[in-house]
Amino acid sequence: MKVLVTYASRHGSTRGIAERIAEKLGRPGLEVSLRPIGQDGSVEQYDAYVIGSAAYMNAWLKEATAFVREHERLLAGKPVWLFSSGPVGPDKVDKHGRDVLEASIPAEFKTFSARLKPRDERVFFGAWDPDAEPIGFADRFMRGFTGLFPSIKSSMPFGDFRDWREIEAWAESIATDLLGSGVAAATPA
Ligand SMILES: Cc1cc2nc3c(=O)[nH]c(=O)nc-3n(C[C@H](O)[C@H](O)[C@H](O)COP(=O)(O)O)c2cc1C
Repeated sequence: MKVLVTYASRHGSTRGIAERIAEKLGRPGLEVSLRPIGQDGSVEQYDAYVIGSAAYMNAWLKEATAFVREHERLLAGKPVWLFSSGPVGPDKVDKHGRDVLEASIPAEFKTFSARLKPRDERVFFGAWDPDAEPIGFADRFMRGFTGLFPSIKSSMPFGDFRDWREIEAWAESIATDLLGSGVAAATPA
């Protein structure tokens, strides 16, 4: 069974999550391809898809949204898993008492849930290096803003908050689902 793990990442932390998922999916019976969204290559030949994006300003990166829209008909007929790499910081609950991961569900999940009926959707904690070269509007805005108000920058959480155990457990659950569904066995090698 062929599985495509594809992702959109600006600074690499979502790529790291996708890499770990692909690694964990690499079990007998599953042939995994890992590819950034936008890289050349056909999309049709896969039996299942894991699609992820970093979230900026409460939204997936444009190329990830465009990828899902472009392949919506294909994806709607296949097993699909979605993940978002999003909040940063050590807190699991925000100042309003909301679960941080739930509060960080990107707007796209609602639309994609209805259209693709994904097997699962997951938000993972991400990573942020405030001194990384800014890429894109949100980064440049943030850089300008924190340049004007350095105290805000020093109060913002930065670092790598990716929860590898959660990520690996999720990948394992995908593998189990695919291998247990009988689709893998039914697919010629
Ligand atoms: C300017 C800026 C805006 C962000 N906006 C959000 C957001 O709206 N929601 C969220 O969950 N995370 C947000 N984040 C955190 C990023 O999603 C997180 O750093 C992510 O892991 C980055 O992934 P990447 O390294 O693959 O680009 C933001 C980070 C920056 C720097």
